[in-house]
Amino acid sequence: MPYLPGMTLRASITQTIAGTRTTELANAVDALTARYRSGIPAGSPILSREIDVLAYTAYRMPATYAATRAVFEQLHDVVPDLRPGSLVDLGAGTGATAWAALDVWPDLTSLTMLEQSDAAIAVGRRIAENSDATPLLAASWRQWHLGQTQPLDPADIAVAAYVLGELITEQQSLLVETLARTASTVVLVEPGTPAGYARIITARNELIARGLNVLAPCPHSLQCPLLARDGDWCHFAERLERSSTHRSVKSAELSYEDEKYAYVAAGRAARPGATGRRPARILRHPTLRKGLVSLQLCTEEGSAVELKVAKSEGEPYKRARRARWGDPWPPPEHPAGSSTLSPP
Ligand SMILES: C[S@@+](CC[C@H](N)C(=O)[O-])C[C@H]1O[C@@H](n2cnc3c(N)ncnc32)[C@H](O)[C@@H]1O
Repeated sequence: MPYLPGMTLRASITQTIAGTRTTELANAVDALTARYRSGIPAGSPILSREIDVLAYTAYRMPATYAATRAVFEQLHDVVPDLRPGSLVDLGAGTGATAWAALDVWPDLTSLTMLEQSDAAIAVGRRIAENSDATPLLAASWRQWHLGQTQPLDPADIAVAAYVLGELITEQQSLLVETLARTASTVVLVEPGTPAGYARIITARNELIARGLNVLAPCPHSLQCPLLARDGDWCHFAERLERSSTHRSVKSAELSYEDEKYAYVAAGRAARPGATGRRPARILRHPTLRKGLVSLQLCTEEGSAVELKVAKSEGEPYKRARRARWGDPWPPPEHPAGSSTLSPP
């Protein structure tokens, strides 16, 4: 089933961009797409004009919302007792992170949205005003530039989604440091490209060096086993439906798109699995052939391995057939699986 962005956000996006000519939006989308694809760090804010922010809202915000929400869901699965009351979002853009976080942690009461672009803040506020969620209506939006000397108020969780790619290397480290100083749980999300993964790996190393443990997606804080594999990188995908406006500004035929993302969530507390063992993470779409499901797994020993589950195994096979890319393995309600892990 395609993933539907929350209707309230969807409706709010539609209302916010209504009144802007589609051709104007489409031209701004083309320019933004080219700018993001270039991969060049931004020398000046990319989202400085309102039309650019509206274009971002129309064609990127549904996808960054879907990916960030999937990340928060995976983090929630790993650490169910994590119930943040406060969240700070660095490089908040139009506020996708806040909407995603509230879906997963409805008890959040304090949202602080920090962003360099006035235009993004103004549009993000307008989108949030259409919500009926008190924390979104009461969110604190502040102009903020990475590197500002004034320390940030502490929060339970600090997030930076799709920001690292706009920064030069030194700023990327500063962003990671700022996140780690601000909250005991830190989340970074990037596009699921080799370059996005590389930025996540660097950030992951820096978080570990600062004493944080990796919570997700990896079931360990050891070196990523995919680094040893040429042409492979850790990423996940979330399918989302495109609205008609979304389709027209992107000149897209398909009614859905797959947002690929890479991420790391890390925290100060050690978080083993409930049983003392941490479930592995499924790294690819499971493949099925002739009564055999093949799962590519990242394990708590820091290895990438293939697990083959045969039909003759009964229940584990049924569970493997239901398993999806990005899921924990074994699934939470079934900590024991009879299949053995075999190297690829
Ligand atoms: C691609 S947008 C992501 C927005 C939002 N986090 C999301 O997931 O949709 C990156 C945001 O980071 C902000 N940003 C980039 N560099 C920044 C800096 N040096 N200081 C503050 N914000 C910055 C940009 O203005 C932009 O809004």
